[in-house]
Amino acid sequence: MTEILFRFNGKETTVHPETGARLSETLRETLGARDVKIGCDAGDCGTCTVLLDGVPVCACLTPTQQVSGQNVETVAGMHANDPVAKMLGERFQDHGAAQCGICTPGMMVAAVALLRDDPTPTVDAVKDALGGVLCRCTGYRKIIDAVMGRPVVLDGARGAVGDSIRRLDGTDKVAGLERFSDDIAPAGTLEILVIRSPYARAGFRFGDLETWAAATDGVEAFLTAADVPGRNVFGVIPQFVDQPVFAETETRFRGEAVAAVIGTPAAIKALAPDDFPVTWTELPAATDIHIAQDSAAENLHKDRDGNIMCGGFVKCGDATAALARADVVVEGHFNSGFVEHGYIEPEAGYAQMVGDRVEIYAGTQAPVMDRDSLEIILGLDASKIRIVPTGIGGGFGSKLDLSVQPYLALAAMKTGKPVRLTYSRTESMQSTTKRHPSDIHLRIGAEHTGRICGFDFYGEFDTGAYASWGPTVANRVPVHASGPYRITDYRAESKGVHTHNPPAGAFRGFGVPQSAIAQECLFDMLAEKLGMDGLEFRILNALQNDAPTVCGQVFSQGVGIGKCLESLRQSWATERGAVEKFNATSNTYKRGVGIAAGWYGCGNTSLPNPSTIKSGITPDGTVVLHQGAMDIGQGANTVITQIFATALGIATTSIDLVGPDTDVTPDAGKTSASRQTYVSGAAARMSGLALRALVLKRMNVSEAAVLSFEGGQAVAQDGDKVHRLDLATLETDTDGFVFRAIETYDPPTKPLDADGQGAPYAQFGYAAHLVVVEVDTALGTVKPLKFIAAHDVGQAINPLLVEGQVQGGIAQGLGMALMEEYLPGRTENLHDYLIPTIGDMPPVETIIIEEPDAHGPYGAKGLGEHVLIPTAPAILNAIYAATGARITQVPATPAIVSSAIKKAHS
Ligand code: FES
Repeated sequence: MTEILFRFNGKETTVHPETGARLSETLRETLGARDVKIGCDAGDCGTCTVLLDGVPVCACLTPTQQVSGQNVETVAGMHANDPVAKMLGERFQDHGAAQCGICTPGMMVAAVALLRDDPTPTVDAVKDALGGVLCRCTGYRKIIDAVMGRPVVLDGARGAVGDSIRRLDGTDKVAGLERFSDDIAPAGTLEILVIRSPYARAGFRFGDLETWAAATDGVEAFLTAADVPGRNVFGVIPQFVDQPVFAETETRFRGEAVAAVIGTPAAIKALAPDDFPVTWTELPAATDIHIAQDSAAENLHKDRDGNIMCGGFVKCGDATAALARADVVVEGHFNSGFVEHGYIEPEAGYAQMVGDRVEIYAGTQAPVMDRDSLEIILGLDASKIRIVPTGIGGGFGSKLDLSVQPYLALAAMKTGKPVRLTYSRTESMQSTTKRHPSDIHLRIGAEHTGRICGFDFYGEFDTGAYASWGPTVANRVPVHASGPYRITDYRAESKGVHTHNPPAGAFRGFGVPQSAIAQECLFDMLAEKLGMDGLEFRILNALQNDAPTVCGQVFSQGVGIGKCLESLRQSWATERGAVEKFNATSNTYKRGVGIAAGWYGCGNTSLPNPSTIKSGITPDGTVVLHQGAMDIGQGANTVITQIFATALGIATTSIDLVGPDTDVTPDAGKTSASRQTYVSGAAARMSGLALRALVLKRMNVSEAAVLSFEGGQAVAQDGDKVHRLDLATLETDTDGFVFRAIETYDPPTKPLDADGQGAPYAQFGYAAHLVVVEVDTALGTVKPLKFIAAHDVGQAINPLLVEGQVQGGIAQGLGMALMEEYLPGRTENLHDYLIPTIGDMPPVETIIIEEPDAHGPYGAKGLGEHVLIPTAPAILNAIYAATGARITQVPATPAIVSSAIKKAHS
């Protein structure tokens, strides 16, 4: 070890790193600079960006020896000391430029370097400077706005429903102070290496593990299926719990775990998976849904019907008869591949024993579900397990499933010592869930009038080796495949098929983005065949209040798709006119305008789905909100507080937020299915109203009284009288509250019958996107130039955050449409698997439609999933408008687009 001296955030610093130690490792583990985040350890994501003598570098690619005598700055140091960074941090918060916040340190550092040189950069300069840092949440546009210092108008600090206010948890994100899942464990904590299958399907045999562990320096213990004290299985849908923590006889996908080693950091670092005594036997694998359904294929799960996991079905009217009498019929076959969630934070966590209890600190979307699953695996009562969620650097559905948690808990229990585990980027991509690949066949008919007449959908989805959320996808797709339209004669069937691929699970939209591609592209074909305008065709068929959905559900209010579509009329005409002019003088480059719509039912499909929110007031007048809904970047902490504050009648700034912790906070359910603003928001509103009623009653004032809490008193201004109540004189409960209100909301739904008829969701949200693309017809590259996105959110609780969700969702839809495909063994890192960069995202105009929903808090609807559903089909429709080439497969890579253009013009 050599001695290295350098300046670290302004202080002379000495370290003694191992030869070749990454600067990121030295900063985080030796110097405790956990504000430097690690996303890939390969220079692909840029989240570890620091300044070296003022120049941005990836700390993961920089050997510590290289910084000798130099000046290293990280975001925390800058934010504390540099006025430029401080100002930028304010701008990031004003614009909502940090969502989950895991990329924010890298973005801030790269932007500070730019602003020191150029305080008024152009858009292109910002894109150049930040081009090496990936963000999966924001869609980059708000980051650009923040760096450029563009004006933004925020509402006052009161933060009532409808006000654009900053995120309540934004300061720590921009200062590098938020603690994510890999930031909890003290340096030197025992680490875990999970041993994973190198093959899609393999038999395996362990050597003498006891002897090997005893003979290997620094190895404390190992884990296999034999070490699981409860049941060696987990899953998320009760009837489909099928995934082992450790495979027992053979593995079913590349990356599946068979064992884990626990050791000192040095021992784990030195250990290559090949050093572990296991012998693999590669076995024939069914990595394709067609092979898996062949009669000769072996069952992956002996208790299932062939390799069909399950299916979904919805039927109304008679689709076959309607299609037979339709004046015009179109049909198509559409395919999509695996899509990786690509959050910038790989899975990580820390666990410790506290007495006879195990505590797990990890990023999660579902803390109570995690505890329930661990109860089964560990064979422990739930009271012996505590889940403390950390900051989470993106989830998008995948962090609904267990990942590191069982290994952490088992290791802590076996060694009795604190342990940590951080997945490498490759390990994260290999072993966690993906978006389901789809294989869809669809026929749609219409009358000459333009009315849809018959719709017949059949879709198969590759659910991979284990069920995960596959049953949810299978159920949701037939309910949503119609799109937000009135269709009287409808049939939709889906199947989830097991293969030796990674488990496919929840990913923003649960299969609906895939079915929307088929439906919305065929709608364009149908309109063209009818000689109708594509937008007017959609408006004609749009679902309206009092008209039944394909499930026979009738909403008497709240159906906003018509308004979404109508809001695009003007732009549809203007943009197509502009494109026509451009194309008249351009040969190689051709532009096109595309539209598509979407809808999404908020919450679980026909299942109980409650959220509970607790609030209280302490004797010193502090208003406490127990907010157990995981904020994974979407803004639940802020939005749910705004709803609660409005109900109670005070400012958001007067509220102390208590975040998720299974020991402390009631269960607000999982962060999925666009349910938190709606369901937890409704519970927060009820809690706020109940708390207000208790206080007003005790003070004997009218319901119209204006309430505040100051100096240990409740103060009620009732007309021209001011009433005061000394809170310290009241009795406290076990939580230390003098008033408390705990309320639960569960959306009213009804089960679906055998034909899929019922009331699956209490509310839907609606969306319509317009996109302008430019296609290089020689190369097949597609560049989106502009999005206009209309979203019916019922009531925008915080319009600034609504915009952020829309922009981020569109970026993910763009990636799905044009570049993203996970191929096991081939795209297991962020340089082979491409996600949109800052250079890929065009401006987005968000149109907020507010068609209030009777069930949502103050009329609000969910939004998270809706935002990418129309994006990919709008892009494909725009490619057709530009080139005449119909694309039926995503991602529409340059090779696929080129080939389609050639075919269209041959
Ligand atoms: Fe950029 Fe989440 S805010 S990755």
